[in-house]
Amino acid sequence: MTAVRREDCEARDAADPLAPLREFFEIPDGLTYLAGNSLGPPPLNSVARVLATLRTEWGEGLVRSWEAADWWDKPVTLGGRIAPLVGARPDEVLVGDSTSVNLFKVAVAAMRLRADRRVIVTDRDNFPTDLYMLEAAAELAGGAEVRRVDDAVALADCLDESVALVELTHVDYRLSRRHPMDEITRAVHDAGALMVWDLAHSVGAVPVALDDCDVDFAVGSTYKYLNGGPGSPAFVFAAARLHEAMRQPLVGWHGHVRPFAFEPDYAPAPGIRQFACGSPPIVAFASLEGSLEVWQHVEPPALFAKGQALCDLFIELVEPCLAAGGLELVSPRDPARRGSHVALRHPGALAIVDELARRGVLGDFRAPDIIRLGIAPLYLRYVDIWDAAAAIRAVLASDVPGAGS
Ligand SMILES: Cc1ncc(COP(=O)(O)O)c(C=O)c1O
Repeated sequence: MTAVRREDCEARDAADPLAPLREFFEIPDGLTYLAGNSLGPPPLNSVARVLATLRTEWGEGLVRSWEAADWWDKPVTLGGRIAPLVGARPDEVLVGDSTSVNLFKVAVAAMRLRADRRVIVTDRDNFPTDLYMLEAAAELAGGAEVRRVDDAVALADCLDESVALVELTHVDYRLSRRHPMDEITRAVHDAGALMVWDLAHSVGAVPVALDDCDVDFAVGSTYKYLNGGPGSPAFVFAAARLHEAMRQPLVGWHGHVRPFAFEPDYAPAPGIRQFACGSPPIVAFASLEGSLEVWQHVEPPALFAKGQALCDLFIELVEPCLAAGGLELVSPRDPARRGSHVALRHPGALAIVDELARRGVLGDFRAPDIIRLGIAPLYLRYVDIWDAAAAIRAVLASDVPGAGS
């Protein structure tokens, strides 16, 4: 048995300067929420912002709110608030559409910037939407080839003068492996290609330094660690040095340089605004805006350090089951190589996840045999980690069909 006791975790929570951040959220009593890497819980600020948007901005301001409440500029202003969380300039990030759609936009934009090259490289185990969208971008770019490699090590071997762009997910959605962004981006640039990162499992979870790493394009989700709400709009990053030359393919009127001139021909807006397309979801923006207010009270490095400490604690607490319970840790032990979720492999993973949910610990299952537990330090306590690990130990020791070792 582990030497860490529940009282030790209570003491760590009592001494934790970040503990009050949990008060921004309303998490049901008795629930240990370890699915925030899938859908973050609602911040109270989001609820208040949505109500104010519905009642005041929409209800009273009506169509005037496009100007009076700055609805028109929300994609840019919200992008500017996400920028510091990904190490970007405020004018390099825009919010809107989904991660999937934004990935399509940046993939085509990157292909156009390397029109003499015909290959897109990605990871075989990338999130499926990334694979689908890259294939679609390649097809529309006149039948370019998508080359799927086994991992980042194999990447180095296939970087040649035919490669236009490399797209990878920074933190692997299943196993929580974190790629070294600086090293890989440098290697891709050395080969003359452009680098696109998917930050869905990184933003709000681990440090990201897009400009310091000289990244070209990035996309990411806001409904996971940023707690923007179900389906809250994603973001897109394009390095300022590419703004002049880049051309994204979904040329809607919100990305036009003079949208209210209603001109018959498209001309891109300057800068990141070019990535806007059609009318944005203002009510969903309100929810995201409320959730981003929480980040004004956060020192990201301290928060990310707490996230890694919680993950380390969790691994330590389930260690006895790794030896004896048939459980395999498939996430890296090295915090610098890990995201903010922990993945465990077990043949009875589905039964275990279901039983944990019955015992008030909500995580998720990824086929065929992965238990995936999101450890979001904005609202999780050390004692939650202790409770989750205790529940796992109890389930493995029980006679739940398929779960016992
Ligand atoms: C790594 C990754 N990329 C992309 C997506 C898809 O995002 P969206 O549904 O906003 O298109 C997800 C969804 O979970 C994801 O995990």
